[in-house]
Amino acid sequence: MNFDEVYQYNFPTTIRFGAGTIKELPAYLQQNKLKAPLIVTDPNIAQLSFFRAIISDLQKHPVSVEVFHDIHKNPVKSDVYKGTDAWDQTNRDCIIGIGGGAALDVARAIVLRINHRDDLFKYDDLIGGDVYVTNDVPHFITIPTTAGTGSEVGRSAIISDDETHQKKILFSPKLLAKIVFADPALTMELPAFVTAATGMDALTHNMEAFLAKNHHPICDGIALEGISLIKDSLETAVNRPDLASRSNMLMGSMMGAIAFQKGLGVVHSLAHPLSSLLDTHHGLANAVNIPYGMRFNIEWFEDKFRRIARTLELKQETGEAVVNYLFELNSKINIPHKLKDIGVKEQHLEALADLAFADFAHPNNPKPVNREDFRRLYAEAL
Ligand SMILES: NC(=O)c1ccc[n+]([C@@H]2O[C@H](COP(=O)([O-])OP(=O)(O)OC[C@H]3O[C@@H](n4cnc5c(N)ncnc54)[C@H](O)[C@@H]3O)[C@@H](O)[C@H]2O)c1
Ligand SMILES: [Fe+2]
Repeated sequence: MNFDEVYQYNFPTTIRFGAGTIKELPAYLQQNKLKAPLIVTDPNIAQLSFFRAIISDLQKHPVSVEVFHDIHKNPVKSDVYKGTDAWDQTNRDCIIGIGGGAALDVARAIVLRINHRDDLFKYDDLIGGDVYVTNDVPHFITIPTTAGTGSEVGRSAIISDDETHQKKILFSPKLLAKIVFADPALTMELPAFVTAATGMDALTHNMEAFLAKNHHPICDGIALEGISLIKDSLETAVNRPDLASRSNMLMGSMMGAIAFQKGLGVVHSLAHPLSSLLDTHHGLANAVNIPYGMRFNIEWFEDKFRRIARTLELKQETGEAVVNYLFELNSKINIPHKLKDIGVKEQHLEALADLAFADFAHPNNPKPVNREDFRRLYAEAL
């Protein structure tokens, strides 16, 4: 590909991909007769120069801009309610999410809430709440600024309960953005640590999706190509970022999110409790756990690991070689090998194991996982 060209994809929604696509936003709003966006981001991004440039570009046009950024690092229900108040009070006509997974998830949950005003968690997908998502939703636009969650091409939002910190999933096909402006230039200044952690989240999505037990060759193909792009680019994006590595990571992260429609697995179930219990960043939690989770899976799935090893161009096409690759990659991008280095203690293990076993991601893991497996995997990684 040519990294200074713009490409358009209509799968799974319209994606304008390439450096500079963000400049198309004002014209897109005009073409769609949208004049009053609610822009949802996080308090850190709201201060960054690329964000200010987007706002000032919009202000050169007949557009009324309202920014909402009062959200938590791991978003909670009250963030969504406050954002909905901002919509109600300022007469908006569309929602633009700009940011990483946190900001995009809150934006998507506000999109849902505009015309669905029962308690937000009534719509929790895990209790079948998606059937209540029956009304129209506002025009929704996503602009990713990290390359990890792929939330920009997703249909779900992960929002936690303010008190219990339990994660809920709001899901509906209606929550897919109408258009994504995927501009890798916006990720150029992403700090090395965030690049590493979010990049490992993307790699985990692709690997877990490929291994997930459902039959889905479409997702399998996307996942392997996603793994290949990330293999070529993550270390460079962390240590010597350039447009090529940033572009490949942004593409690889969207591919991961498309692929994990098929399902995720044991690594995400190990990671989720670290965020809810200890507020660990989602990507970091996956990064530390992925070598252990993958080693657990090898036993019955050498064939699939052989295909992953081939994609990674490893000398030995074995599961063990994939696990070694993951440890080495973590070293190269400064991710610790052990949970104790990210604040986990022996006394947390029982609670973590309970939460991991209750988590929604592992039923799609190719090999069944029980509570004792989770306890053992945490102890191994400690
Ligand atoms: N919807 C989904 O399918 C899905 C999947 C996985 C995770 N998630 C959710 O996504 C969240 C994590 O998202 P994330 O990993 O993108 O992290 P994040 O959104 O928390 O962002 C990480 C940090 O990077 C900063 N940042 C973002 N873009 C930047 C830029 N361009 N330059 C400099 N700094 C920048 C942010 O302000 C923040 O401090 C979690 O809440 C998780 O639950 C959602
Ligand atoms: Fe993830």
